[in-house]
Amino acid sequence: MEKYRIAGGNRLHGEVEISGAKNAAVAIIPAALMVDGICRIENLPQISDTVTLLHILESLGAGVKMINPSTVEIDSRHATWKGADYDRMRKIRASYYLVGAMLSRFGVARTTMPGGCNFGVRPIDQHVKGMNALGATVDVTDYIDAKAIHGRLRGAEIYLDKVSVGATMNIILAATLAEGRTIIENAAREPHIVDLANFLNSMGADVRGAGTDTVKINGVDRLHGGTYAIIPDQIEAGTYMAATAACGGEVLITNVIPKHLDCISAKLREMGVTVEEYPESVLVRSSGRLRRANVKTLPYPGFPTDMQPQMGVALAVADGTSVITEGVWDNRYKYVNQLRKMGAQFQVDGRVAVVEGVERLHGATVEACDLRAGAALVIAGLCADGVTTVEDIEYIERGYQDLVGKLQALGADIRIVDEPEHSERLNANAG
Ligand code: EPU
Repeated sequence: MEKYRIAGGNRLHGEVEISGAKNAAVAIIPAALMVDGICRIENLPQISDTVTLLHILESLGAGVKMINPSTVEIDSRHATWKGADYDRMRKIRASYYLVGAMLSRFGVARTTMPGGCNFGVRPIDQHVKGMNALGATVDVTDYIDAKAIHGRLRGAEIYLDKVSVGATMNIILAATLAEGRTIIENAAREPHIVDLANFLNSMGADVRGAGTDTVKINGVDRLHGGTYAIIPDQIEAGTYMAATAACGGEVLITNVIPKHLDCISAKLREMGVTVEEYPESVLVRSSGRLRRANVKTLPYPGFPTDMQPQMGVALAVADGTSVITEGVWDNRYKYVNQLRKMGAQFQVDGRVAVVEGVERLHGATVEACDLRAGAALVIAGLCADGVTTVEDIEYIERGYQDLVGKLQALGADIRIVDEPEHSERLNANAG
């Protein structure tokens, strides 16, 4: 079983290049299913979620050709809605984007219920509401079966009851090839929504207003091939910013859009970290001694929930008492139990966590319980005294390209070790 072994205490120094945005890529790959031509996607992050999605597209009959590790050409001209690799679909959250994309392209969709990170109930009622409004029946069992009643979806006005990234993107996908105009009100505004719209528009779609809370989609008859480069990953960048803040050091984070990092930069400055912005990079400088701060996560442009655990670690070693309020998910504090093993002091009550900063964390064996929790535990290991082992790293590899290599290049002492599980070790010893 592969794990990360981290000897903590090194400051981080140097330069790290950010990869393409995971949460844009996982919608853009399904979107390629709707393109009647060859679609070239650049700046694709090399993570297990994108590999899984590309395999799923192949199982649907699309041609998938890697031009280089971060560029893929997808030819969906002969794709069908049948024959999907349902075992792979079950592994990822973003399989729900295949519903919108397949309905748009084929008028029919069949996917599994989404898998992925588990932090409480993750309903899809807003996705279903959107598809229903566009004229599809949606049957949710172990699978999601959807069908356009009139063969092709029809534009509609949809008011989302909840600001949902996934529902906004899924409805954009479904409405792109629908007949007539769709208006989504109370839409989410995350950078990856703008990226999906830009991708679709570059292939001939007519999506307007992405990045605001009203998105208008004029359905088109077909999308043509083209080339598109995915935006840099806001959360990967934020993770290196938080790591530098907690460990101390000076790191230039390149291939970023600084505007997308504004709220993270502002919070880190409040904590005593220097963040300098350049056109496509940010320089983060930290003494390693941080000041307390309060963090409240909200939909974009608020502080991202996907940075809450990483920031939680920085606050765990800051001077004073901080309060974190999770404004998006019901149960995103699972990492706290693991952090406590390292000496962190958190009190959690529902969506609120009170963090008493400690001078130092100490090494321990901890489990990554989801993607961002895993990233947070890596940061904790990097700034702790002694050795930390992070288990269940497959969660982390779903969303971070070459985390170990990038951290090593910054001077961190982190490596992948392959060890039997505890019970296997005991048996081996007994034998
Ligand atoms: N919600 C509903 N009904 C729905 C959909 C969502 O009530 O139909 C609720 C959720 O329970 C949650 C809130 O609305 O309380 C927001 O959920 P959203 O739909 O925005 O989340 P998502 O689309 O499932 C994406 C990211 C998550 C990220 C959230 C919020 C992907 C594949 N996932 O999830 O990313 O936390 O938006 O920004 O894009 C991650 O990258 O680690 C990750 C979990």
